[in-house]
Amino acid sequence: MSLSADLSGKVALVTGASSGLGLHMARTLARAGAAVALAARRLERIEAEARALRAEGRRAVAVPLDVTDPRSVEEGLARARAALGTVTVLVNNAGIAHTDRALELPPATFRSVLATNLEGAFLVAQAAARAMIEAKVGGSIVNVASILGFRVAGRVAAYAASKAGLVRLTEALALEWARFGIRVNALAPGYIETDLNREFFASEAGKAMIARVPQRRLGRMEDLDGPLLLLASDASAYMTGTTIVVDGGHLVSSL
Ligand code: NAI
Repeated sequence: MSLSADLSGKVALVTGASSGLGLHMARTLARAGAAVALAARRLERIEAEARALRAEGRRAVAVPLDVTDPRSVEEGLARARAALGTVTVLVNNAGIAHTDRALELPPATFRSVLATNLEGAFLVAQAAARAMIEAKVGGSIVNVASILGFRVAGRVAAYAASKAGLVRLTEALALEWARFGIRVNALAPGYIETDLNREFFASEAGKAMIARVPQRRLGRMEDLDGPLLLLASDASAYMTGTTIVVDGGHLVSSL
């Protein structure tokens, strides 16, 4: 099942676009007609992906960007603007996880998870919003949160806190930036199968986790396409400050 959206005329930037959901979402936006800046630290990987999209006839560039470094964020957005125009769709996808129990969680890990998943998303959103306001254009910011922003599991204390913070940040930015025509929403995916976790979900522990999802399956990256295109496009013109949960019912699993 696919949903079509016309994003022609929009300039999108996706952080953490070198792998996983970020790469998939960058391709989805480009194939819907947006000019796309793939932003990540691993320049060789995103350059190859941007080339592949251009070979399909899409507009795509690769920009180096580390979301934890304000200067890199400024430079990345400036490069995207120079190549494609002012970014009007930002997907704050870059994120890191951890598997430490709270008692053993090192402060440095706690800080780096928060710095990437929460502060990083804020820095990129702030820089993108400033550029939109300067260019007198509105836009759509999509933050990639998680169902762990709403409920918890073991060994995810910093991650869950960062994603809960991102949900609240989405609301706060939506409130402040509505007057500029900038919408800020979030996606909260459940467990989505990617190269990184495929092996885990094939294990007994992984299968037990899937059994707790009401739809009895993992999410596929394509399951995010419809909600992403909705939030990125003008079809959601009257939506801001909201988080769309895409989880096969995991959050409403029986207690
Ligand atoms: P991933 O590890 O493949 O992708 C994360 C990307 O962020 C990587 O490309 C990584 O290089 C990048 N990144 C990390 N730190 C960065 C930094 N400082 N600057 C720029 N880029 C940085 O993992 P995945 O699964 O694709 O995750 C993408 C997003 O989706 C994350 O925010 C994650 O928390 C979220 N998510 C993933 C779910 C899943 O089941 N895969 C479920 C719910 C949320």
